[in-house]
Amino acid sequence: MTESLATVAYLGAAILFILSLGGLSHPETARRGNLLGMLGMGLAVLVTVFGPRVSSSGVVAIVIALVLGGGIGLYAAKRVKMTQMPELVALMHSLVGLAACLVGFASYVDTSHPLQGAERAIHAGEVYIGILIGAVTFSGSLVAFGKLNGRIGGKPLLLPGRHLLNLLGLVVVVALGCWFVQTASLGLGMLALLVMTAIALLFGVHMVMAIGGADMPVVVSMLNSYSGWAAAATGFMLGNDLLIVTGALVGSSGAILSYIMCQAMNRSFISVIAGGFGSGAPAGQAGAAPQGEVVAISAAETAELLREAKRVVIVPGYGMAVAQAQHTVNEITRTLRERGVEVRFAIHPVAGRMPGHMNVLLAEAKLPYDIVLEMDEINDDFPDTDVAMVIGANDIVNPGAQDDPSSPIAGMPVLEVWKARQSIVMKRSMATGYAGVDNPLFYKDNNRMLFGDAKQMLDEVLATLKSGA
Ligand code: TAP
Repeated sequence: MTESLATVAYLGAAILFILSLGGLSHPETARRGNLLGMLGMGLAVLVTVFGPRVSSSGVVAIVIALVLGGGIGLYAAKRVKMTQMPELVALMHSLVGLAACLVGFASYVDTSHPLQGAERAIHAGEVYIGILIGAVTFSGSLVAFGKLNGRIGGKPLLLPGRHLLNLLGLVVVVALGCWFVQTASLGLGMLALLVMTAIALLFGVHMVMAIGGADMPVVVSMLNSYSGWAAAATGFMLGNDLLIVTGALVGSSGAILSYIMCQAMNRSFISVIAGGFGSGAPAGQAGAAPQGEVVAISAAETAELLREAKRVVIVPGYGMAVAQAQHTVNEITRTLRERGVEVRFAIHPVAGRMPGHMNVLLAEAKLPYDIVLEMDEINDDFPDTDVAMVIGANDIVNPGAQDDPSSPIAGMPVLEVWKARQSIVMKRSMATGYAGVDNPLFYKDNNRMLFGDAKQMLDEVLATLKSGA
């Protein structure tokens, strides 16, 4: 394959990636977006492996690596549950960071293309920055993986003078970098690289350890952005235009997503990075003691309330994903709509454990997109709602975020389900949600608790609805 053909193919792959991102912006086009992304990646891999820069012996090694890596990826993708997806994504980001570091070191010791003067300094700069971003991404993503799967506690680690420590690390890294691009000694240069890598690894660990459980969604998308910049830096080191473009796409889209999520949680990006927010116990643990009396309701009574309602809003959360209740939710929605009840869904931007988590589940269950609304579109409609049914959600419907300035989630916009005539919360116990805070909604006069596994409870609700048909 000639160099010019490879360039044209790379351009085609870059266009496919951009179209893919465009498609992923809406549930209706997301499937097509995914397909375009896969096509783009397939084209990119083929052109790289069989392109002008790889020798025939190199092709064999790459194909073996592809089969091995692809096999591991396929196995992981088949085994991982939807609720474990953020952990898997964090682990993937760490691999991008590791790859950037390894390519950086290999590129530094590679003397097959001796460079001189400004070219040499620019290449040294690319190597230094590539390894720096890669190392921060690698260690930060590993800690995020540990926090998301509960092996590392959600409580932020707040070292005394932590901002000063970070600043000191930054000053040393910048000073070393200035010296590194000028030095001609390979040995001393390598020493500088190793010292910087150690500082960057520690910085990555420290940065994510300082971030509290409730801010983890932003951290995952932020690390996604870092992994993009790490890939772009690798592209500069290798002189690969496609990697630069793709890395920049991932880097900027991750940064935009982090910004959107910060807005959704009413947090400033700087305060997320500075850390310390959301220090509660991880999901499922009884963090705060219950603050009052709750009134329980049965599945049959719930079905009765739904049957009598004119307008119903369903708020799905992480528990619906755990219980895999989305198909029953679809059946209930269909049954109610056939009876003339208006049913709509309210989706909070950080419901579940990853961006778009609820949209994916509802789309999988084939719920019509036009009744699935974002928080801003539906929040004002709760006063006109007869029944707000909360399925396995907790933090995203916590009124404390509005009324209690001392709450760890104070200021986070929430779905105002308590303004409906009747709210029903479906969960297994009085345990707290991800942020580890008690929820005053449970004790409101117009709220009822339907205790039990969401799938089991909804099956019972559906059976009652159908039996009364
Ligand atoms: P949570 O506040 O975590 O609440 C989920 C609730 O579901 C729990 O209180 C749990 O109570 C219940 N539950 C668990 N399994 C269940 C089952 N089988 N049946 C019925 N209920 C079940 O979830 P949320 O309201 O969706 O809020 C999301 C939280 O996660 C936010 O704090 C957000 O910041 C954080 N977060 C979000 C993301 C993204 S990007 N979406 C990523 C990481 C973290 P029981 O144990 O009593 O059943």
